[in-house]
Amino acid sequence: MSQGSEAEKEYVLERESELRLEVASSPVSVLLLSGTVEVFGTELAKRRPYEFQSGAKVAFFTWHGCTLKLMGSPEVAYISRETPMVLYLNTHIAVDQIRHRASREGKMGPRVVIAGSVDVGKSTMCRLLLNYAIRMNRRLCYVETDVGQGSLCIPGTMGITPIEGPADPVEGFSNIQPMIFHYGHNSPSPNVKLFINIINRLAAVFEKKCEVNEKFRVGGCVINTCGWVDGQGYKTLVEVCKAFKADAVLVLDNERLLNQLEHDLPQEARILLLPKSAGVVSRSRTVRRATREEKIREYFYGKKGLLSYFPFTFDVKFSDVKIYKIGAPVVPDSCLPIGATKEDGSTTLLPVQPDKELVNSLASVSMATSSEDDVINHNSAGFVCIMTVDMEQETMSVLSPAPGPLPRKILLLSEVKFVDIR
Ligand SMILES: Nc1ncnc2c1ncn2[C@@H]1O[C@H](COP(=O)(O)OP(=O)(O)OP(=O)(O)O)[C@@H](O)[C@H]1O
Ligand SMILES: [Mg+2]
Repeated sequence: MSQGSEAEKEYVLERESELRLEVASSPVSVLLLSGTVEVFGTELAKRRPYEFQSGAKVAFFTWHGCTLKLMGSPEVAYISRETPMVLYLNTHIAVDQIRHRASREGKMGPRVVIAGSVDVGKSTMCRLLLNYAIRMNRRLCYVETDVGQGSLCIPGTMGITPIEGPADPVEGFSNIQPMIFHYGHNSPSPNVKLFINIINRLAAVFEKKCEVNEKFRVGGCVINTCGWVDGQGYKTLVEVCKAFKADAVLVLDNERLLNQLEHDLPQEARILLLPKSAGVVSRSRTVRRATREEKIREYFYGKKGLLSYFPFTFDVKFSDVKIYKIGAPVVPDSCLPIGATKEDGSTTLLPVQPDKELVNSLASVSMATSSEDDVINHNSAGFVCIMTVDMEQETMSVLSPAPGPLPRKILLLSEVKFVDIR
């Protein structure tokens, strides 16, 4: 039921229903007038306006009923009673049982992998499970392995972060300090070996965290994956499950994938099929590209309509940095000398000489102090975008979230580009 004018409208939600909202160009404010409601697991405070910016797609789910007021003109706003939330809650309860046992018996907490094709609500499921765990006073890690549409940092990266508080209903998990690793492509396919190498590194970081912190050991982790689940994509998914010794794999809306995983994962892993919510909004290739660009813009300038950051642009001398790419180009067999065997250069550091081609390239500032320092296993201090290259002065100007000079010398070039049009 709804009443009121277009710019201001009240929605009365019955128990176990949700209001789905898609925001077009102008922001929409949402006010909880009565009852209780949550956005992907985070409860809204009463009578406090929450402003959702253009592009936001959210569901306000109520367990016991509520009245919401919307101010603004959303692109889409409708109530649905058809939601899989009861199943999702039961899944959370089952996962939390593993935490109870881990606490009682001094064992590891659950390592939960969320899998499925694109646009099935994987990232939303991660947020929901993390929020529900936090509401049970758990502490746990979130691991992001989706290099295309990941939520922790810019595209072309993977990361891990401790979660110690609920996500903000508008901004998501914002007050977090993730440890980010450079991969350099927005799909696992260009360098599967490097991808798997980073997955193993993330699993090692997670295990270390569990060793030193009892609460995190019990809480375990939630691992997001990318939606490429065929061929090599499937193989990388299996590697993720194996590296983290996943004991729960939640497969959203893909029976075929469920079957394959049941066949290929160890018996200890419980694999569960869950339906996708009809509220999940599909994104075209163009929208995905725009989302990736927005994520990079956000890294330097802050979230649209929310926080504004003021990035810095400064010059860096060619002699002050060492630029590398990870992964040597594959040499076709026909080009190899007779009798020679192909060397795998997937994780080799290749020095790059600065030139104009580097303009608009993103680069990670590696925490490694020298190229002999096992660079690919070091995390990133941050990212810069190369804005201009002056071959005469032998300098390049970079856009950076922090003022110069750069904290380290080694820059790892990403294939992901960013054209800074403000
Ligand atoms: N119940 C819902 N009602 C409205 N919008 C929703 C609902 N569930 C998810 N969404 C929205 O749908 C979009 C896609 O969901 P999500 O990002 O979780 O899918 P995904 O499987 O992770 O996609 P990808 O394959 O791109 O990683 C998001 O903008 C999310 O906020
Ligand atoms: Mg996702």
